[in-house]
Amino acid sequence: MTNLYALTGRELAALIREQRTLPDPALKGPIFQEARRLRGEWYGDKVYMRGLIEFTSFCSQDCFYCGLRRGNRSAVRYRLETDQILHCCRTGYALGFRTFVLQGGEDAFFDTHTLCALIDAVKSRWPDCALTLSVGERPKADYNAFHNAGADRFLLRHESADPLHFARLHPASQTLESRKRCLYELREIGYQVGAGFMVGSPFQTAEHLASDLVFLRELSPQMVGIGPFIPHKYTPFAGCPAGSLDLTLLMLALTRLLLPAVLLPSTTALGSIHLEGRELGLRAGANVVMPNLSPPEVRESYSLYNGKFSMGAEAAEGIALLCDRIRRAGYTADFSRGDWAGCAQPPPSPVE
Ligand code: 5AD
Repeated sequence: MTNLYALTGRELAALIREQRTLPDPALKGPIFQEARRLRGEWYGDKVYMRGLIEFTSFCSQDCFYCGLRRGNRSAVRYRLETDQILHCCRTGYALGFRTFVLQGGEDAFFDTHTLCALIDAVKSRWPDCALTLSVGERPKADYNAFHNAGADRFLLRHESADPLHFARLHPASQTLESRKRCLYELREIGYQVGAGFMVGSPFQTAEHLASDLVFLRELSPQMVGIGPFIPHKYTPFAGCPAGSLDLTLLMLALTRLLLPAVLLPSTTALGSIHLEGRELGLRAGANVVMPNLSPPEVRESYSLYNGKFSMGAEAAEGIALLCDRIRRAGYTADFSRGDWAGCAQPPPSPVE
């Protein structure tokens, strides 16, 4: 197996181009085998469960791909009250979840003080739980304040590590430079950090995907979120094709090879483009799933893309179903905090 660590961006692009011409639906090839071996070496057969709470659908950004973009006048906007959020956590805790992910658009209503109070409310009630934030770009002072209030982890996808490609996905007010700065600040503050990108976003080439891998190698985040792009009808990319299952699985596996201890979700987007998407993601090296704990009545409104699964096995009520599907795929659902294993060098106990 080639050592991906030694490959240049150009070589990674060639590898991606070569591999995408050899679809491997049974994931039997050496890249997927190695991805599974590494994931087993670090995490055994565990799949970490995270309870996702989509707490605001307001967003001041205007990303061309996202249904929550400011420019989408048809979007239904909601904001959960603190009590509603705590209720989601209480339900999640009773179901066994020990990580809560508070995700939302960039919503100025949740200023530093308000968000710190919310973090404190959750962490003081459930100190044994990890709290992950996913609230976009903020000044470093805010990131510091959230961390001091008790937030443990932060998800902020970089979306594309190629500045020109990034600029085709976002208005000029958003830059890759600023996104990267945020990621480095988060890391410096001491968060477990998650970056990530969509596969098959408009204008994306193998070179862009290679840049994503090179950037991940450099940042070395603890978590990486990767899912296929899926068009949303009220965005400028409405007519663009969705990203492919095969290429998404390949990028998951390559990410596992580059960052063996990474916490890698098999995303909702992957589960939304293929009935077995979630399971295939796990077989490609993913080891996290994030069922939705948001109140059922608001789920439709958190519409990043059309056809997003939010019920059944994607949702907290379907937890038994999801655990069963994970078991049938050969893995074990694990509800513990599931912190990053990489601080414990070398890998725990080799499985094979
Ligand atoms: N298709 C797939 N993923 C999307 N996201 C936003 N819009 C879409 C879409 N149309 C992803 C982005 C963002 C995350 C919250 O959801 O990568 O970071």
